[in-house]
Amino acid sequence: MEINRVSGLRGEIIPPPDKSISHRAVMFASLAQGKSIVRNFLRAEDPLSTMKAFACLGIGTSEEAGGDIVINGQGLHGLKEPFGVIDCGNSGTTVRLLSGILAGSPFFSALTGDDSLKQRPMARVITPLKTMGAVIAGRASDKYLPIAITGKKLRPIHYTMPVASAQVKSCLILAGLYADGTSTLTEPFKSRDHTERMLAAAGAAITVDGLTVSIQGGPALSPFDITIPADFSSAAFFMAAALMVPNSAILIRNVGMNPTRTGLLDVIREMGGSVALQNTREISGEPVADIYCAYTGGLKAVKIAKEAVTSLIDEFPILCVLATQAEGVTEIRGAEELRVKESDRIKAMATELGKLGVEVQEYPDGIAIRGKSAMKGCAVESYDDHRIAMSMAVAGLVAEGTTTVNRASCVDISFPGFFGKLKRLHK
Ligand code: S3P
Repeated sequence: MEINRVSGLRGEIIPPPDKSISHRAVMFASLAQGKSIVRNFLRAEDPLSTMKAFACLGIGTSEEAGGDIVINGQGLHGLKEPFGVIDCGNSGTTVRLLSGILAGSPFFSALTGDDSLKQRPMARVITPLKTMGAVIAGRASDKYLPIAITGKKLRPIHYTMPVASAQVKSCLILAGLYADGTSTLTEPFKSRDHTERMLAAAGAAITVDGLTVSIQGGPALSPFDITIPADFSSAAFFMAAALMVPNSAILIRNVGMNPTRTGLLDVIREMGGSVALQNTREISGEPVADIYCAYTGGLKAVKIAKEAVTSLIDEFPILCVLATQAEGVTEIRGAEELRVKESDRIKAMATELGKLGVEVQEYPDGIAIRGKSAMKGCAVESYDDHRIAMSMAVAGLVAEGTTTVNRASCVDISFPGFFGKLKRLHK
């Protein structure tokens, strides 16, 4: 995909529906007893992997006029043994959350994924699930996919998580639904809490006290009608673009503003970027707002430490791009989790920004980027990682000449139509 430097971005955009909430809506509706409606579901490759997985487990879905999805939930114990291996594609959320559900479902199942997912760590869910009594095994002594599970009744767990991860937390919360008694999970930093909000609304016995979640096994989940807001992580590419490209002003509408997700806003404000929230409201238990972002210039470098990383975990690549246009050295540390995302995002951003002429230093746990950098367009790689592809495309908007993002179709993982939406904002 070729991206040229632009002279300004203007207009309104509604980013695609939230990916994390879309996955969970399909999963929790499948486990509820009865018909749920999911409005504004994200039809992108990752949530579609979740939908296909639940089809393999016997869950029927249908589409209503207008695109809403109706899911015929079969209850916590209503899933059926799948005939084949479930392919989770590129989706870490699908495989990690599903493992918790299948560990408590009394049949055999096997999970795999694409080449990226097969290299991502699975011990982080397999180890605590085994503590709960799960019969589960993975390739290379439980490190990687494929994994095989023979579901059974589980024991509750009291677990202090070594890493802040909503995928691990959610996996164990879901396994906790299948355990006799109350499980407690404590994380080092607060990760996204969509699971807690949605399960509480569906009637689960779940409580949150600071960094600790308690979940009681048993109670049936009620079906629900949910409207999914736009994804803050997809909105982030447009926020950064508006702040970097002179003569820009963009209104980004209907964006989910869950405080566990919006760390980038604090960073933008610290950098001196102009961002304003309008029309703040609540939709289906999640805060939502319109975000107005405009170019003012004068961005300053910032230092970001571990405590801040969890709340901007998926915004690391685009924040690296934004840092190229901030005066001084921006340093992000305590971000070693970024090495085990859809690609090694620290290495990917250091390498590809380096190609554009940015002075970058890579650390085991982060990156330092010197701004303000005059970037020069060239060919860059996506590593088949959707967020790397979109971040490099935004870099291309300010780089001199043409930037070619190779293997850019991976944007379909979370944001089908990204390039078209970006083009429509060109002045
Ligand atoms: C997600 C959690 C995060 C995030 C991912 C989606 C989720 O992963 O990076 O894109 O939906 O729970 P970790 O929980 O592993 O950090």
